[in-house]
Amino acid sequence: MSDQSTPQGGAAKAWSGRFSEPVSDLVKRYTASVFFDNRMASQDIRGSLAHARMLARQGIISAQDLADIERGMAQIVGEIERGEFNWNLDDEDVHLNIEKRLTALVGDAGKRLHTGRSRNDQVATDIRLWLRDAIDTILGLITEFQQAVLDLAEHHAATPLPGFTHLQVAQPVTFGHHLMAYFEMTRRDAERFADCRKRVNRLPLGSAALAGTTFPIDREFVAEQLGFDEVCYNSLDAVSDRDFAIEFCAASSLLITHLSRLSEELILWMSPRVGFIDLADRFCTGSSIMPQKKNPDVPELVRGKTGRVNGSLIALLTLMKGQPLAYNKDNQEDKEPLFDTADTIIDTLRIYADMMGSKVDEATGERIFNVRVKPAAMLGALSQGYATATDLADYLVKRGLPFRDAHEAVALAVRAAEQRGCDLPQIPLDELRAAMAHVPGAVERMGDDVYSVLTVEGSLAARNHIGGTAPEQVRAAIARARQRLA
Ligand code: ARG
Repeated sequence: MSDQSTPQGGAAKAWSGRFSEPVSDLVKRYTASVFFDNRMASQDIRGSLAHARMLARQGIISAQDLADIERGMAQIVGEIERGEFNWNLDDEDVHLNIEKRLTALVGDAGKRLHTGRSRNDQVATDIRLWLRDAIDTILGLITEFQQAVLDLAEHHAATPLPGFTHLQVAQPVTFGHHLMAYFEMTRRDAERFADCRKRVNRLPLGSAALAGTTFPIDREFVAEQLGFDEVCYNSLDAVSDRDFAIEFCAASSLLITHLSRLSEELILWMSPRVGFIDLADRFCTGSSIMPQKKNPDVPELVRGKTGRVNGSLIALLTLMKGQPLAYNKDNQEDKEPLFDTADTIIDTLRIYADMMGSKVDEATGERIFNVRVKPAAMLGALSQGYATATDLADYLVKRGLPFRDAHEAVALAVRAAEQRGCDLPQIPLDELRAAMAHVPGAVERMGDDVYSVLTVEGSLAARNHIGGTAPEQVRAAIARARQRLA
């Protein structure tokens, strides 16, 4: 490489000719991004190779230049893979580091690579390539999580659990039905990521600094080479907006919000006061002082990490809001929140898919789930909250009592049960009738067949429509879900 120097004798910057003094060390560190954007190195190289091929095809650089660039890049890929590449703060960012090394390796061809291109369209392209890969990883992991949830839900399609509203026992549901709520949530999450991917997958390259370029470029060719669905149609917009990254962070916030809700439930269910489940030991930790403790650290951390993911969304929104067209250096701040969000979501999904998962015990052939359900505790809780009161009201309505009167009659029956210290199915028929005596029309509608609707099984089985909790419907929902994933 020719030894370029600044007038002061320092190392040359790619843009240094116009400057009469070098930047201070603090400014250099402050403005550099190489130590976090170098994780886009492979995307940067892919983008550069596609650009170089286009330049050669259009006769803007020679075939020999292209061959030199390809040879140099192949060597750089190897150096990076082997950890031998020397990332240098003086060269500011991933783009300049790689370009400088290329020029050192292949000479003038390296200097021609940047023809018709700017770091502004280059970085926008790199981020989109990087994010597209991250989204594909996330979509795969959501599916893994969902498969685990489906197995657990199937195993518990008929296991009764108290359904809560206001954290008070409301109506019986099955544990499988409850879990399938999270399947639906994450199904929408996957749709959001897939939809976001469409807008990520458009090519900014060719926009150059902001206005396009005077060279006869072929953007469609580059788009095709890099697997983009189309090109970005306005050069100013293409180099400056980061809405696609914001969308990704918004989808991530919703996903981790859903996982945070599930985490809160696992934590609650695992509390000894509730005792609905136990979690496999490897997702929990002990206390350094209290020997008896087994804490659900993984779900707690997921709940906690929701904060940083939401924070990154706000960071990117705030980063964008005051920026005039087109590119501003502000945009360099997009990467850390974006990378952190993707890393957090990927790790969280990986660990969650495992936590909700199961394995078959080789000795017994039995499937062992990491979430160990305690059906007796769930059923016990169900017998404490008059969970079938609505079923009793529905029973009266089906016999012709207006719903509001039935509601009142059942409220009186609940009060009687409270006084007796028992649940509704334990009250003898004459006492049930007596309790609702002054609701006109209630008593004569109470027959001894009422007890079949007051049981948990009867209550569950009766909600037999799409979206309902009847075990038959839960199994159908799981079958539908499996088909969708297939
Ligand atoms: N490191 C910069 C970024 O992340 C690359 C683009 C720099 N362009 C510029 N004109 N300074 O956005």
